[in-house]
Amino acid sequence: MFQEMANNLLKGKKGIIFGALNEQSIAWKVAERVVEEGASIVLTNTPVSIKFGTIQELAQKTGSIVVPADATSVEDLEALVDAAMEHFGGKFDFVLHAVGMSGNLRKGKPYQKLNYDFYAKTLDVSALSFHKLLQTLYDKDALNEWGSVVALSYIAADRVMPGYNDMADAKAVLQAIARNFGYLYGRKCHVRVNTVSQSPTATTAGQGIAGMDRMLSFADETSPLGNASALDCADYVVTLFSDLTRKVTMQNLYNDGGFSSVLPYPEMKE
Ligand SMILES: NC(=O)c1ccc[n+]([C@@H]2O[C@H](COP(=O)([O-])OP(=O)(O)OC[C@H]3O[C@@H](n4cnc5c(N)ncnc54)[C@H](O)[C@@H]3O)[C@@H](O)[C@H]2O)c1
Repeated sequence: MFQEMANNLLKGKKGIIFGALNEQSIAWKVAERVVEEGASIVLTNTPVSIKFGTIQELAQKTGSIVVPADATSVEDLEALVDAAMEHFGGKFDFVLHAVGMSGNLRKGKPYQKLNYDFYAKTLDVSALSFHKLLQTLYDKDALNEWGSVVALSYIAADRVMPGYNDMADAKAVLQAIARNFGYLYGRKCHVRVNTVSQSPTATTAGQGIAGMDRMLSFADETSPLGNASALDCADYVVTLFSDLTRKVTMQNLYNDGGFSSVLPYPEMKE
């Protein structure tokens, strides 16, 4: 596939990848890339997504097992981490959290008319699940020294983009959790925790966002390097799981072709 790009950056490393639903998923590309770089992985998603998505194909391709887990359930997360430790024969090195969902976005409820049950669920699935995951890993002492945990964020956490709705709040919390847990986990055993703020990307979750198509082309035109694709994201995450970024922690890192540093103005391309 991309063998010419493989550099054994993750040789002998082991980890869990959340959120691969189908071939478009960012997590799908990360799974493929980390395995190309020499890692072994355990894949996880909700039972519903496993049933209706194509994760088993990815499992076959990457020689990995699939362990079902709802990321909002501490019980499921505990069982997942136990299963991974059993599968790997001990501690592991990295985790990708690529989990997000908003009922308000799905049902077209704008930010000034939120349904609060949906809002609570958005925060639980898209942000608190990251805390639950980190707390489970920490309690079980599941990660090796200098391990690396990455979650995926979006710039609407930092700048207003009304179409992103309650997901913007969830991503802001997600980034705060990465900072706060990153401090504790760094002190405990040099585990680093970061978020990657990714360009708009055409995935199942991405397509649920109001005005996504226009945002995708606007961001692509505004960014000096153009949008980062799911594969670009996977490449970046590989570096964050590798030993080349051992002192990078508690950061929100933009993988966006430069978009976040540009002040858009009319006719800027000229
Ligand atoms: N697509 C974009 O434009 C974009 C941009 C920046 C960040 N992100 C983030 O990237 C991550 C991955 O999304 P994607 O764009 O690859 O879309 P995707 O739809 O392929 O992935 C979202 C995943 O979340 C999983 N999920 C939902 N609820 C869950 C739960 N309760 N427990 C466990 N898993 C659950 C889904 O099953 C799915 O696999 C998300 O956090 C998303 O917010 C996406």
